[in-house]
Amino acid sequence: MERTINSKMVLVTGGTGYIGSHTAVELINAGYEVVIVDNLSNSDITSLDGVERITGHRPTFVEADCCDRDAMRRLFESYNFDSVIHFAAFKAVGESVAEPMKYYRNNMLSILTILEFMCEYGRHNILFSSSATVYGDADKLPVTELTPRKPATSPYGNTKQMAEDILRDTVAANSSLRGIALRYFNPIGAHPSAHIGELPRGVPNNLVPYITQTAAGIRECLSIFGDDYPTPDGSCLRDYIDVVDLARAHVVAIERMTSGRCKCPYEVFNVGTGNPVSVMELVRGFEQANGIKLNYKIAPRRAGDVAAVWADTTLANEELGWHAERELSDTLRSAWLWERTIRGLK
Ligand code: NAD
Ligand code: WQD
Repeated sequence: MERTINSKMVLVTGGTGYIGSHTAVELINAGYEVVIVDNLSNSDITSLDGVERITGHRPTFVEADCCDRDAMRRLFESYNFDSVIHFAAFKAVGESVAEPMKYYRNNMLSILTILEFMCEYGRHNILFSSSATVYGDADKLPVTELTPRKPATSPYGNTKQMAEDILRDTVAANSSLRGIALRYFNPIGAHPSAHIGELPRGVPNNLVPYITQTAAGIRECLSIFGDDYPTPDGSCLRDYIDVVDLARAHVVAIERMTSGRCKCPYEVFNVGTGNPVSVMELVRGFEQANGIKLNYKIAPRRAGDVAAVWADTTLANEELGWHAERELSDTLRSAWLWERTIRGLK
């Protein structure tokens, strides 16, 4: 039977997770039909309630592992999406150093399986969640998409570099396939409604969840890792991108592929604000935005941190017509509102 491919249907792997759930909202708001596949290894099904409360639509949900070939075949047999946004991956840098095989197995098998079935079932567009981690300790800042990638400093980073290469080569060998890799800088914040946000399991590794948990009294004190970096105030510089702005970048990238506006079959875009912000500035910004005094101390540097990395966003601005819009203070307010909401605090 001839299959009709639906260009307005998108498969979102890892769609109950932090960035996936925000992207599902923006896709639905832009008129897309969203099918989510997630094995719930690092997320909660309740994020679908949040997506529904915000948009009035509940995405179709399939609980399955993207590495499971039988389950993925059933998925491709059942839904006629033309585009895939592939978020499903493990993402904890430190854990990837301790358990590399867990990361190589999950992050590589999932993208390989998705790509194989896209080719077999004639699906055209894939958007891949890459990361600024692929640049490592860059020689020149800000980084552009042409900045050479340094050898990965963690198995997690290596999975992102290898997945980008697999995507590039697979697209080159399949004339019907288009691919975009978005290299996210530091995604932070939550939907302003506080119906969806980040749900880190255990002790957070990332700065903003650690800050909000400290403000909520769950953690005693934030450690600022290092004040002796060669930066203006001695703490590290990063490019913190609001998660809703980041989610919108996915919608414009999908639209670029579905409307045939790609300049090449495989493209890469940085997704950041272009503004370097230090850890101390972020802490002060959180205090000011929310009228809170945060308990923090200076601690030794964290192994593996680079002093500074931020994006040159010219390509995304000009080619995707996308710009980061939210003010950092609004983003930091949204992070605190989300933390209070999930903890039942006033
Ligand atoms: P997340 O953990 O909240 O979301 C990932 C989702 O994928 C989770 O819901 C998890 O249950 C699911 N998943 C993992 N392996 C799966 C599998 N084999 N099959 C099905 N589902 C699976 O993480 P996130 O922050 O939303 O990140 C999404 C993507 O963006 C990841 O690929 C991550 O590496 C990448 N990324 C994240 C950041 C960040 O700081 N959050 C930065 C750069 C890139
Ligand atoms: C930010 C800054 C820390 C926690 C990571 C991944 C990267 C990408 C985004 C996935 C750093 C400092 C942190 C704390 C601190 N993820 N910090 N105290 O390390 O820039 O990037 O997430 O692709 O690959 O490596 O983000 O939020 O962990 O740290 O002082 O308790 O905050 O040293 O300078 P990072 P982060």
